[in-house]
Amino acid sequence: MATLETEINKRRTFGIISHPDAGKTTLTEKLLLFGGAIHVAGAIKAKKASRHATSDFMEIEKQRGISVATSVMGFVYKDIKINLLDTPGHKDFSEDTYRTLTAVDSAVMVIDSVKGVEEQTDKLMKVCRMRNTPIMTFINKVDREGQEPIELLDEIESKLNIKVLPLSWPIGMGKEFKGVYSLYEKKLILFKPHQKQETKNIVEITDLNDPKLDEEVGEYFADKLREDIELITGIYGNLNINAYLDGKVTPVFFGSALNNFGVRELLDCFIENAPSPLAKVTTETTIDATHKKFTGFVFKIHANMDPRHRDRIAFLRICSGTFDRTKRFLNVRTGKQLKFAAPTAFMAQEKNIVDFAYPGDIIGLHDTGNMKIGDTLTEGEKIQFKGVPSFSPEIFKTVVNLDPLKTKQLDKGIQQLCEEGVAQLFINQDSKRIIGCVGALQYEVIQYRLENEYNAKCRFDPLNYTKATWITAEDPTVIKDFARSRYSQIVTDSEQRNVYLAETKWSLEREIREQAAITFHFSSETL
Ligand code: G4P
Repeated sequence: MATLETEINKRRTFGIISHPDAGKTTLTEKLLLFGGAIHVAGAIKAKKASRHATSDFMEIEKQRGISVATSVMGFVYKDIKINLLDTPGHKDFSEDTYRTLTAVDSAVMVIDSVKGVEEQTDKLMKVCRMRNTPIMTFINKVDREGQEPIELLDEIESKLNIKVLPLSWPIGMGKEFKGVYSLYEKKLILFKPHQKQETKNIVEITDLNDPKLDEEVGEYFADKLREDIELITGIYGNLNINAYLDGKVTPVFFGSALNNFGVRELLDCFIENAPSPLAKVTTETTIDATHKKFTGFVFKIHANMDPRHRDRIAFLRICSGTFDRTKRFLNVRTGKQLKFAAPTAFMAQEKNIVDFAYPGDIIGLHDTGNMKIGDTLTEGEKIQFKGVPSFSPEIFKTVVNLDPLKTKQLDKGIQQLCEEGVAQLFINQDSKRIIGCVGALQYEVIQYRLENEYNAKCRFDPLNYTKATWITAEDPTVIKDFARSRYSQIVTDSEQRNVYLAETKWSLEREIREQAAITFHFSSETL
């Protein structure tokens, strides 16, 4: 039987961060193809196809159904078990997207070579930076007339505050795109457009002065490549794995996911260098993946919206030890011992019942209300994993009860849905409820579920706030005075913590500058 160590060493658990349309779905499909998960392509496309039809509730349900299937995509490549966690990014962008990043050991960032660094990538990168997650970058769509490679790299460094290290370099771009030179593997990979299959046009060129280079790409591009490589090795130096593992430097690959170009190079570098399951911090100590006893935490709960099936799936990230489905595990928060009849593993599109699972794996546990996001499961140890914080919402609406006879149901529904992590509930100083989300679709989900599961009706009235930050101060009177002077903007969260709602980024920046005695936190993690 394989040892725990071997299982750990062969696992890589990661997520892809990108802005909508940069190419995440296309890249995911290509990665899954390398893993031999051939039935997957259709399902991922289906997910995309349904993403616009969000006001049709059957569609929401369908989309959510598919999103369970694509939440975790496991596949094996060169004997490495890769767990790719989906980070929903379109209308279904939600706190779950952020929370998923707490369950990965590394990330791949996809950037559109035409558009450069975009807003959602920036937001997701900030979450990665909070825990120094190692990031590899794939600059996609080099078959299009994009920005100059060096400009793209500058933009990544300046906007995302991370150093870059190009490991491949494009030769020409758009119509003139010839291929890439892999600095990592010292070979030339030639591009043939409209090629759905992987390219086989690989030429070993260890010395760039080799005349073979001129033969393959022509004198002009060969000289340009020699110049570029001299320039970039001068600027960026060599790969320092530790700087990547510390989250300080991101290795960069250029390619075209659509043409399956440059994807294998990224994947090969990824499995060689991306971290296997990392140690996780608890409130008491740090738990290494090699810790013999099983531990894990819940980072996402997926509720079935069909009232006839009130079941939920809790997604658990295994941090140490071995998950054995015949054993009972302790939910540290409630003190209850739980046994899971049919835990599922996610291999490609299939959900299989799993007997054993190892650190880095994600398993789906059927739950009837015993688990909350952030819960820790152990073999008996009373520890609590840190790091499934609340993130600052960006859309805020007040709740208006449309059926006063169902007030109790509404109260219960909102309370429970917020506990489940669908949205965050804040109470203002006039005792009014404010619901905060990071994605607009959540309000439709809440309304639908309130009606269908709790028999309550409500409306949401928009508010003018765009950012929430938790506020703390050494002297409590400072917060009290601030709450008095910003009466409508200071609210409390579900744990009675003070939260400041800002109208604009600028007004928030001004407050941060002017209120020196107050600390503003963008996630509850730093409180
Ligand atoms: P997303 O998941 O990040 O939202 O992006 P997705 O992969 O769906 O890609 C967005 C669009 O960009 C798609 O076009 C896709 O075909 C295209 N695309 C992805 N990679 C490349 C690439 O390397 N080069 C070029 N030129 N295009 C690329 P679409 O027209 O929106 O969708 P579809 O009808 O092609 O599926």
